[in-house]
Formats: sequence, structure tokens, C-alpha cells
Amino acid sequence: MPIGIMSAIPEENRRLVEALEGPEDVVIDGMREYHSGTLFGEPVVLVFSRCGKVAAATTATALISRFDVRSIVFTGVAGSLSSDVRVGDIVVADRLVQHDMDASPLFDAFEIPLLHRSYFDGDRGLTRALIAGGEAFVGDLASHVTPDDLAQFAIGTPRVSRGLVLSGDQFVTDRAYARSLCERLPGALCVEMEGAAVAQVCFEYGRPCGVVRVISDAADETAAFDFTAFVDRVATHFSYGILEHALPIIGGALRAR
Ligand code: ADE
Repeated sequence: MPIGIMSAIPEENRRLVEALEGPEDVVIDGMREYHSGTLFGEPVVLVFSRCGKVAAATTATALISRFDVRSIVFTGVAGSLSSDVRVGDIVVADRLVQHDMDASPLFDAFEIPLLHRSYFDGDRGLTRALIAGGEAFVGDLASHVTPDDLAQFAIGTPRVSRGLVLSGDQFVTDRAYARSLCERLPGALCVEMEGAAVAQVCFEYGRPCGVVRVISDAADETAAFDFTAFVDRVATHFSYGILEHALPIIGGALRAR
């Protein structure tokens, strides 16, 4: 069974697709392109989902029900919600929550109605492998990202953290809103738009899920300024480099189960 690898940003997916060995015919389904083959020695299905929870959840469901992936790894960018996490740092989700889910007073805020839970865990084995992949990549950063690009985004030696990741259908560009999210969901490291939706689908289907994010912005009024340049010149290389190190570990861990 292959590993499903999702990205919400086409540039990240494209670089991985180019590295695919033994690519099979592309399957087009629901306006997504599914690329099967071998990546860094592991059988994978690569797909670009587009942004947001619906796009992510439907794509994750297709990966599981049509391609029978044994696990899903999501790679992408996120806005920082913590002073401990800066642009260029890597965050691996050990828990995820949908910050815009609120069916109160019928259910607690953030609780997924009738599923009796608000938080979804990242799979421990995948999380460990993504952290190891992130750390190995950071040690090798200079061979992936140019000095000019590192300087432009003031990236020195990125840190790799594990923690709570928030997901919602909003690109957060309001510092006060970001602060209110942190107050309501203490311990949050970053905010993005897909991870917790993928984690919910994986929970419902009993498949391991791993989410890794590189911090592209501070989830404040400046968030959109350099976003495209960051994605093109930095994030793409992070996704590729982290997976280059993490995928063989993930494959080994899954085979050992
Ligand atoms: N992904 C990257 N930056 C983000 C932000 N500020 N809000 C939501 N998703 C993001």
C-alpha cells in the first residue's frame, strides 16, 4: 500500500512529482491529479488538493478509498502563533484542531458535532519520522535553499518543533484575531487551512496521519506580503528536503507495524 502525500500548494507538489520514479499514468478525479510511483524508495500517491478544509478532506478521502493509501502525510506552510516559532521554522503536528468549528451551544466550541472530539492526534511514528526528517533537512539546508533566499527571509538555523496546529478556512492576517485564537486554544504553534481536516478523515478511516509545516509568516497584517516568493523559493525546497529524509523512515516504521 502506498503512502499518500498531499500539498495545498502546486509548487510543492510539482517538485515531488518531478522526483517520482516509475511514474504511472496520472489519474484525474474530482479535478485533482493523482500521481503514483516511487519517491525516495517508497511507493506513494502525490496530490495537490488546493486550499481549505473541504478540498483537503475530499482529497484525503479519495486517497484512502480510491488509492488505498496506508497513511497520509501533509506538507505545507503555516502562519506562526507563537513567539517560539519563526519564519523558516518547521512545525510537526502532534495534535490538530479545527479552530473555526463552533456549533455551540449545541456542542462545545471546536467539538466536531456527533464525533465527540475536538482534537485529532498526529500519528506518533509519522510525527517522529517527520521531526527526524526536519532535523536532517535543517542540517543540510544550504544545499537546498540559496544564501540570498535565506537572507531575504532572515532564516538562520531553523528550529523543528512539535505541537498543536490549528486549521480553519481563513488565511489569518489579523494579529488580534491570531492572539484570540491562542487564548482560546492554548499551546497553539501555528495556523493553516487543511491539517485538522485531513486528520479527521484519517481518524474516521483509521489511517495514520502526519502533518508538517514550514512557517511562512506571522499570521498578522504582513502575512501576505512575501507569501508567494516564500512558497516559490523556500517552502518548496523544505517539503522536498524534509520528505527526502523522512519518507524512508516512515516506510520502515509502517512496514514494522
Ligand atoms: N498558511 C500560511 N500562512 C497562513 C496564515 N497566516 N493563515 C492561514 N493559513 C496559512
